[in-house]
Amino acid sequence: MENKQYDLGMVGLGVMGRNLVLNMGDADFAVIGYDKDSEKADALNKEAGKQKVYGTKKKEEFIQLLKKPRTVMMLVPAGKPVDSVIDDILPHLEKGDLIIDGGNSHFTDTNRRASQLAEKGIQFIGVGISGGEKGARFGPSMMPGGTREAYQRVEKIFEAAAAKVDGDPCVTYLGPGSAGHYVKMVHNGIEYGLIQLLAETYDLLKRGVGLSNDELHKVFSDWNAGELKSYLVEITAHIFKQPDEKSGKRLIDVILDEAKQKGTGKWTSQDAMELQVPQPTIDMAVAMRDMSGYKKEREAAQKILSGPDPRFGGNKDQVIQQIRNAFFFAMVMAYAQGMALLRRASAQYNYSLKLNDVARIWRGGCIIRAELLEDIRAAFKKNPDLDNLLVNTKFADEVQRRQDDIRAIVRTAAELGIPAPAYMASLGYYDSYRSGWLPANLIQAQRDFFGSHTYERIDEEGVFHTHWNED
Ligand code: 6PG
Repeated sequence: MENKQYDLGMVGLGVMGRNLVLNMGDADFAVIGYDKDSEKADALNKEAGKQKVYGTKKKEEFIQLLKKPRTVMMLVPAGKPVDSVIDDILPHLEKGDLIIDGGNSHFTDTNRRASQLAEKGIQFIGVGISGGEKGARFGPSMMPGGTREAYQRVEKIFEAAAAKVDGDPCVTYLGPGSAGHYVKMVHNGIEYGLIQLLAETYDLLKRGVGLSNDELHKVFSDWNAGELKSYLVEITAHIFKQPDEKSGKRLIDVILDEAKQKGTGKWTSQDAMELQVPQPTIDMAVAMRDMSGYKKEREAAQKILSGPDPRFGGNKDQVIQQIRNAFFFAMVMAYAQGMALLRRASAQYNYSLKLNDVARIWRGGCIIRAELLEDIRAAFKKNPDLDNLLVNTKFADEVQRRQDDIRAIVRTAAELGIPAPAYMASLGYYDSYRSGWLPANLIQAQRDFFGSHTYERIDEEGVFHTHWNED
């Protein structure tokens, strides 16, 4: 093997790392993979066909075979493993080399790593990668942040590996520092919102309308052929068809109703609260994952707390059409909240994000890819400073046309006692955002009443305090 022949080195040859190496190999880049676990390194060598890819468990060999200045990418679990890999590799690197973290790292860790490495003359890119195992193998959406100069070094290889929509790669330079990982975090927040809305939709259609798995499959398949076309609706349709070999039932019916989480949705809610950007749909999605974890308590409470009969007695076709429109409405709210957070974060953290670029690279490869993103992109292209997606003329029209249906669905859910908190939160977001007046004057009055926190008036500048009459 000739010395220094590889364009990029990948640390971590789990399924994501291995697939991304093979993907880059397909595009004719020479990529070497390194994993301490020799089985993983061997697995890459086994899968490699004609591609110029090679897996090793020997760190020295890995370093030696990289072209200089070196590009070392890692795909390892977020948190400590990222720091361990950096500590392990760093002594072998030289000034001008580049480290890329392709995991779901918290953006504050990315900032810390970028500045620590910059002090040592090492470049750093934090890139969010979405699309799961298949995406990594055949084209993910990639969200890179760091210095522009560092990005330019990997632009070709990233563009080759990324998903394409009409030939346009789903990757672009997003901004400095942790911009890429921040955008990926918000992507996951939106992902949480959409997944929760789909779960509530399933509940309404199953417990409420009484649809069978085959009927559910058909409803979601139909939806995926129209304005709701999206990856998550598509896989939801498939899920209802999947048989379970063990029980002979549909797999969905033997899966435990406790959802796990790695935390990126929670991070979105946490930072949104930090930046004071309302994200009720996403917050509710996080809360409902937590609620799902209280299985034993829920089962006990079910014996104590009563509710109405969840079966819907009205016109089935009509309610399914209403749910379809309600889902579209709520889906728009989830994206609108995520984009509003990105807008605020961009100003706060100096990312200089172009939101039309974000929407553009989310159109393919990633988990939240959806037909809708074409219009979201157009909205931010037309007005890069759009305060909120909801005030774009097209979206304002689309959601207003569907508001009667989401109101009907929220009413139906409340009447049937079927929990639909993400739908309710989405409608609440719409109603509060379009409300020129909110009852926050009462909140101010109360704060001043019990704590002399003062208030402002609508008819006079300044800050006021009143000795409230307690009679
Ligand atoms: C993606 C996914 C990916 C991953 C999440 C799931 O974009 O490809 O978002 O990052 O599947 O980690 O997140 P939870 O485990 O928190 O649901």
